[in-house]
Amino acid sequence: MTDSLLKLTDLGKAYGLINAAKDINLDVADGEFVTFLGPSGSGKTTTLMMVAGFTTPTAGGISLNGQPLDPIPVWKRDIGMVFQHYALFPHMTVAQNIAFPLEMRGVAKRDRRTKVEEAMEMVGLAGFGQRLPKELSGGQQQRVALARAMVFKPRLLLMDEPLGALDKKLREHMQLEIMHLHKNMGTTVLYVTHDQEEALVMSDRIAVFNQGRIEQVGAPRDLYEAPETKFVADFIGETNFIAGQAAGCGNGCASVRGLNGQLGAPLVDGAAAVLAVRPERLRVISNTTPGAENTLTGTVKELIYLGQSRKAIIALEDGTEVAALEQAAQAEATALAIGSQATLSFRARDARILADV
Ligand SMILES: Nc1ncnc2c1ncn2[C@@H]1O[C@H](COP(=O)(O)OP(=O)(O)OP(=O)(O)O)[C@@H](O)[C@H]1O
Ligand SMILES: [Mg+2]
Repeated sequence: MTDSLLKLTDLGKAYGLINAAKDINLDVADGEFVTFLGPSGSGKTTTLMMVAGFTTPTAGGISLNGQPLDPIPVWKRDIGMVFQHYALFPHMTVAQNIAFPLEMRGVAKRDRRTKVEEAMEMVGLAGFGQRLPKELSGGQQQRVALARAMVFKPRLLLMDEPLGALDKKLREHMQLEIMHLHKNMGTTVLYVTHDQEEALVMSDRIAVFNQGRIEQVGAPRDLYEAPETKFVADFIGETNFIAGQAAGCGNGCASVRGLNGQLGAPLVDGAAAVLAVRPERLRVISNTTPGAENTLTGTVKELIYLGQSRKAIIALEDGTEVAALEQAAQAEATALAIGSQATLSFRARDARILADV
């Protein structure tokens, strides 16, 4: 176990009867990029604001480098922050905005000037120092906010949906830029987004938030391939769910409606459960294929041409619709027609059996 830089222990924030965040436990390693991912209102900003020091926890604690953070005032914490609604000081130039955290920390004027120049260079805004925020595009303003958060080389950088206001192309460009900055400076990053693709691309680990709690923490691949809850399987990527009762919950394997999969988390026989399987794990087979495991039969409802691949929507006898995604070459080989019968098969190790809650 590596030493953690940031440690959140049983952290919580209640507003009256509302638990904005509850039972948050998380260790972040030095240099790690951890993303909070979850729907609107799930507690991401609340948790980040407690780490920043703008929100006081009502339960639990936070430590940075082994020291409890609560006695340390916001401006003395070694933490840079880009807010969800990035606010630059409108009456101050770009250079003055970026210099602000240095002034707060008593850095001498000459040093300040060099550091501000470096920071502007870093975010691709060299020469923009004398402009006012209103004379910049949204993306440029966002980069100033980033430079201002990083200029004092904080141990920890908190970013709350820093790319929310940008169009797709600029967002992707800035994602790469933030990843490079993270790598080059070795800064530890806590990043918030509700965009699952952004989270998968950027993070070492992702914490999935749901109703104020962390449902699961893991590397992008683990969350995608081995979700522990139906919520996580549903929130990250596309998933087919087949609902029924869990059976044979013995040694990690179980089944739902006679279909086998891996248990995502302990379940008892008879519990309401779903079998979750990704569209790209379903194969269209001929119904004469001998010995195929885990087969599903239904009627082809839709065939969607996606260029590189084809998606087939198939309605099972009980009305459940499942999607099967096949690469173009494979799709050509399995001639399907709307209205005809199709048989699908998948490996037990590619399916998860999860509590249906
Ligand atoms: N000052 C407050 N007073 C009362 N309730 C609050 C307050 N701040 C946040 N909440 C509630 O706490 C919950 C979590 O809010 P939070 O801002 O952490 O969500 P979020 O995950 O950041 O959502 P978004 O993706 O929309 O930014 C929400 O239900 C919100 O309404
Ligand atoms: Mg938020």
